[in-house]
Amino acid sequence: MTRRLNALVVAFLALAFAAAAEPLQPAPLPHVMILATGGTIAGTGATATTTVGYTAATIGVEALIAAVPELAKVARVSGEQVFQIASENMTPDNWLRLGRRVNELLARDDVAGVVITHGTDTLEETAYFLDLVVKSAKPIVLVGAMRPATAISADGPMNLYNAVALAASREAVGRGVLVCMNDRIDAARDVTKTNTVALDTFRSPELGVLGMMEGGRPAFYRTADRAHTTATEFDIKDLRELPKVGIALAYAGSGRIAIDAMVAAGVKGIVNAGVGDGSLSVEARAALVEARAKGIVVVRASRIPGGAVARNGEADDDALDFVVADNLSPQKARILLALALTRTTDTREIQRMFRRY
Ligand code: DGL
Repeated sequence: MTRRLNALVVAFLALAFAAAAEPLQPAPLPHVMILATGGTIAGTGATATTTVGYTAATIGVEALIAAVPELAKVARVSGEQVFQIASENMTPDNWLRLGRRVNELLARDDVAGVVITHGTDTLEETAYFLDLVVKSAKPIVLVGAMRPATAISADGPMNLYNAVALAASREAVGRGVLVCMNDRIDAARDVTKTNTVALDTFRSPELGVLGMMEGGRPAFYRTADRAHTTATEFDIKDLRELPKVGIALAYAGSGRIAIDAMVAAGVKGIVNAGVGDGSLSVEARAALVEARAKGIVVVRASRIPGGAVARNGEADDDALDFVVADNLSPQKARILLALALTRTTDTREIQRMFRRY
């Protein structure tokens, strides 16, 4: 019996030493899917100094990946060309298709995160839409560029590297949809394009960045407070189309033309981008009251980039049965209102949603 026991102990020790002698295999790198939609990051210009008047959406996803071989140091990447468009042509139908594809991919165990390359003009809108409909805590990072790939000091390659490194990081898990440009990490809800040409155009003016990319590693300083991704009540799985919601920009003398035109076009909701604290001219107020009487949901937003619109401040929202946009920009209030209308037309419920997301 003792001899058998000794033999077992020797065999066990031999196995233990053999295992210890084996060099530890590094853990496999996370698998990050890059979904390409077009934009300047995929753009080409006639010369190396062409930074305006170039053609967006000409380079395919495989070429974008091949241009940054360093991606292989931070993740195993796979590319998919979902669209090839300049983002001024992005539509809610595109969003639904993209959102469903992101949900499908993130439900796979072998996918750690998703990067979406996108034109910068409507990047913030796609990011916020995904923030409200993606049902995963895995990182989703949107990235673009302000210079085409052919330009001197093109910003696309480093932006793409940072976005993939961020999407592959544990730190980015559970933070909602992120926008990573020019070394900054911003929340989809807060970020907006602030400059027509500057590289550091994406800012979160009032609330600031969530974090920074430092040498390819994320450093976070705060978390986004409002609900997103796995905490949202919106579901696009069976949604054929988003309810139509228009935005009326107010200015001196704007009157009711845009509002009446949207009512005639059959919108289900109107976001009024008012002056000041969401103030309404006499004519605009009359037009919105008539729209409300036809069942159209009215949200009072502001054309001003900072601050929230106070409920019952510049208009008696309770009496008029209007909703206020909180501090959402008009273009993001429109997205939230469209998704809210997939669930309810009750304005008290919709106002709750504007306080929650
Ligand atoms: N056409 C614009 C777009 O696709 C170019 C801007 C950009 O991508 O930086 O959004």
